[in-house]
Amino acid sequence: MEEKKRAGRNRTITLTDTEKQTLKNRLITITEANTVVEPAVPEPGRRSETTTVLDKTINADLLTALPYLPNEFADLIIIDPPYNLRKNFNGKVFTARDEESYEEYLMSWFPQVCRKLKPTGSLYMCGDWKCTAALQRAMESELTVLNRITWQREKGRGAKANWKNGMEDIWFGVKDPDNYYFDVEAVKQKRRVIAPYREDGKPKDWEESEEGNFRLTCPSNFWDDISVPFWSMPENTDHPTQKPEKLYAKLILASSRPGDVIFDPFLGSGTASVVAKKLGRHWCGIELNEEYCMLAEKRLELAETDKDIQGYSDGVFWERNSAALYKK
Ligand SMILES: C[S@@+](CC[C@H](N)C(=O)[O-])C[C@H]1O[C@@H](n2cnc3c(N)ncnc32)[C@H](O)[C@@H]1O
Repeated sequence: MEEKKRAGRNRTITLTDTEKQTLKNRLITITEANTVVEPAVPEPGRRSETTTVLDKTINADLLTALPYLPNEFADLIIIDPPYNLRKNFNGKVFTARDEESYEEYLMSWFPQVCRKLKPTGSLYMCGDWKCTAALQRAMESELTVLNRITWQREKGRGAKANWKNGMEDIWFGVKDPDNYYFDVEAVKQKRRVIAPYREDGKPKDWEESEEGNFRLTCPSNFWDDISVPFWSMPENTDHPTQKPEKLYAKLILASSRPGDVIFDPFLGSGTASVVAKKLGRHWCGIELNEEYCMLAEKRLELAETDKDIQGYSDGVFWERNSAALYKK
């Protein structure tokens, strides 16, 4: 990645040449010598003799790597694919194409990715307004779609003759709508009470504290409490489409148990793996670009000692811009 001049308070995670040498050795590459990786999670008491992909970053094209991953090994899959836009991923440019070609692209890998999901598993796939119709058709071809989350991104490029794009979609699907895991208690949101109603003088469904009056609410499918990572945040990297840790924390806490396996076939800077680690889950990610893989590994190393997820503390998600209030 190109070297940039940065301000003193800039906390963007970067890589030195020495770090790259160490981090590169942690990556799995697909060669004939390590093609057999089953089972990803060795059965209790049985040591797998072969390379395990558990808690690993695979530096490969997902189409090359997928055949070597065991089927039905993931409890939760999070997919953040290239959207139907021109985007430069560290020298490899994804080009915008017509809707039919984009859908063909999606269907060249999506069914294979779904085969990696356990029968009780859940899958989330991210997109913007332009590719969301193609994403929905892909999701419906393999899974039962249970919802579409809309994330208000806040940041976006202004347009002279169009509305600025300020949202993204996250499709939520499962293999078996009668048998999947969802923990709503783990993703409750802490919101300021606007009209603090009392019954017999006591707060009704809200809490009084030194910081103010708050209520724990069930999360809806409209998310307006998450900012895009920016330069003063400790999770920030130079990846052009890095997702916020807080966003993935909601997906992981709602749709997996501690110890479960989270799989991301378009890992980018490693957000899914890092959040999985911070929340006590296993992870596996595939990423084409070696530099992004190394960034993911550096973030995983930092997560050994720093388990903080901005906007999530004391087991609850806080409203945007309330960082000064939550205790660490
Ligand atoms: C939208 S970004 C994912 C960003 C990620 N969610 C994060 O938080 O950093 C998509 C990523 O997929 C990678 N990619 C594109 N085509 C790929 C392929 N065929 N196999 C593996 N990775 C690929 C790109 O290099 C890019 O980093």
